[in-house]
Amino acid sequence: MNDDRFSAYGPILVMLFFFSIVVLNAGKYQPAEHEWEGVLPDTVRQQIESGEVLYRRACANCHGIKGGGAVQSQLGFSTPVPDFTDCNFATREPDADWIAVAHQGGPTRGFSTDMPAFGEALTTEELQRIMDYIRTFCADDDWPRGELNLPRPLVTEKAYPEDEAVLSSFINMENEGAVMNEIVYETRFGARNQLELVVPFGFREAGDGSWNGGQLGDLAVGVKRALYHDLSRGTIISVTGEYIFPTGDRGTGFGKGTTLFEPFVSVGQLLPADGFLHFQGGMEIPFIKDKATEEVFWRAALGKTVAQGAWGRAWSPMVEVLGARELESGAQNQWDLVPQLQVTLNQRQHIMMNVGARIPVDDSGRDTQFMVYILWDWFDGGLFEGW
Ligand code: HEC
Repeated sequence: MNDDRFSAYGPILVMLFFFSIVVLNAGKYQPAEHEWEGVLPDTVRQQIESGEVLYRRACANCHGIKGGGAVQSQLGFSTPVPDFTDCNFATREPDADWIAVAHQGGPTRGFSTDMPAFGEALTTEELQRIMDYIRTFCADDDWPRGELNLPRPLVTEKAYPEDEAVLSSFINMENEGAVMNEIVYETRFGARNQLELVVPFGFREAGDGSWNGGQLGDLAVGVKRALYHDLSRGTIISVTGEYIFPTGDRGTGFGKGTTLFEPFVSVGQLLPADGFLHFQGGMEIPFIKDKATEEVFWRAALGKTVAQGAWGRAWSPMVEVLGARELESGAQNQWDLVPQLQVTLNQRQHIMMNVGARIPVDDSGRDTQFMVYILWDWFDGGLFEGW
């Protein structure tokens, strides 16, 4: 390995090193689940009702003893009851969201008032026990749990397989005018896989000050698979292979002029106190070497989620560190910092927005970019549902 190669891979190795320390030490990021265990004498413990007993008393009338929903004709309303035995549906909702629904009632997440609010009738600790019981209705642990679905950074790719549509815009703030947009469509298949389509388009200022309007960039198609996920460790690891096709015009800056293969690894890690960390590292390999250069990249995002008023809107400030380097002699590492803020826009919390700035911190003279996306988690409801 010559010096150039080492200085390209060096930052990746250093980041992976720190990341593995975090992952290995994260262990149980959650507070001990049943703090009363071992503290109280057995006789008192028996009086604390199990999640199953509580579920049967408070929820089973509507949700069914087996979690699949009571027979509709026995319910006094027509709102369909969700099926907790359907892993595809049930695994993606984090406990905290479901506890919010049971505590505050359906409307707190844009659902029907037919889902009652239990308010003070059940403590959050009792609701947690009910959730632990509801989780046993999906017996297949191949499905990654929704808690591992961390807020999406502006650039770094998540490890969690998703059903979502994202519209992003990147706007140059300084020298050359450019407004680039991207529609990303992601759909899950099976328990751990995701297919992804990326359609970039935009506007660029030419040398003479005129604008190239509404041109298509390089289309991309990728497949992701979660190789490992473990909620008790708070870790999810995926690999993705993406092909980027030369559909954009290289002359006007809308494309690279060659097909590229982009393999990468992404890791998501939950941290204590609602913190989280993403890492992504990979390569861009052009098919025609004299059109584009091979490149390695490494990205990380650190953030924390804060719920407004305990049950409401989720705010997730994050900061990303982006590094990239072309694999040719004399190339420099490129570094950017991306401070940003993601916020859920509607009650259901399946429409989100993220705003930030990509600020180069090397001396390459690249433009600072204003970045924004709107994200629609379409599995959770229509664009106009749940407001
Ligand atoms: C009176 C009937 C009724 C009772 C009792 C009831 N639910 Fe519900 N629940 C519903 C209905 C109806 C919905 C669907 C609402 C909708 O889709 O708009 C629902 C939805 C939910 C959801 C939302 C799932 C999603 O789509 O993300 C959760 C979580 C939930 N219930 C948990 C509970 C828990 C826990 C209990 C017991 C503590 C409980 N429910 C008791 C009727 C009930």
